[in-house]
Amino acid sequence: MSSETAITDQEFALFQRLLYKISGINLSENKKVLLVGRLQKRLREYGFETYTQYYRLLSSGEHPVEVQTMVDLMTTNETYFFREPKHFDFLRDEVLRLRRDNEPFRIWSAASSTGEEAYTMAMVLAEALPRQPWEVVGTDISTQVLEKARRGHYGLDRNEGIPQEYLHKYCLKGVRSQAGTFLINAALRERVHFHHANLTQPLPAELGLFEVIFLRNVMIYFDQETKRKVVNHLIQHLKKGGYFLIGHSETLNGIESGLQMLRPTIYRKP
Ligand SMILES: C[S@@+](CC[C@H](N)C(=O)[O-])C[C@H]1O[C@@H](n2cnc3c(N)ncnc32)[C@H](O)[C@@H]1O
Repeated sequence: MSSETAITDQEFALFQRLLYKISGINLSENKKVLLVGRLQKRLREYGFETYTQYYRLLSSGEHPVEVQTMVDLMTTNETYFFREPKHFDFLRDEVLRLRRDNEPFRIWSAASSTGEEAYTMAMVLAEALPRQPWEVVGTDISTQVLEKARRGHYGLDRNEGIPQEYLHKYCLKGVRSQAGTFLINAALRERVHFHHANLTQPLPAELGLFEVIFLRNVMIYFDQETKRKVVNHLIQHLKKGGYFLIGHSETLNGIESGLQMLRPTIYRKP
């Protein structure tokens, strides 16, 4: 096995700036080991001996595919089905149950990672609105996680949070060569659409308007200025009276969003 290339403080600072500029992700000083662990194989792939060489390639503007690979490697994509389940209870009991509207219901998993959050929403919607139109949209900056999300195919170890009844109704257990896996059924997959989107950039108008937006467990990687920018991009796609949900360890304190806090982590657009 070849040994690891060391990264200097100056090189780390270059990568911090580059990643921040592209994604808003704010790598703290103690993330050097993480960066080396994740990018080392790219240096090896190119036969580079220093991080400066790799940085030059990334910042030349001539290798967008490699820039995307670096972003894919540097994002943290941890997620699971029914994560922070109180938000899904809120969706079912206080948003969907009281709904009188017959318009298609649209909900957005704004940093969807590999799709577990979006498919959890889909299961809750399929139960609550069996005869009404609805759509789930998932977006992420990482193209790699989006590919996995679109497949809707997971290891059985990922199904922990899914109620038994939903597993039977909405998931297909793999057999033979697919043993040890499950697939979200086609009826749900057809109503969940994944797109590439960088939340720090203005979002395309075609994304449309949503009744509910989940922006969970991504603001932890952003500084206050990036949070402000991202929240303001997102709320332009939130309908009046729509709900905005953030992760349990996150806050919108200090961000002028015009949203009303209903309870910690749950906001509404007046
Ligand atoms: C930890 S996951 C959260 C997944 C899910 N929302 C949840 O709560 O389980 C964070 C995701 O945010 C994505 N992300 C980071 N920066 C982003 C940006 N600027 N625009 C869009 N997505 C971003 C990452 O690629 C990653 O998949």
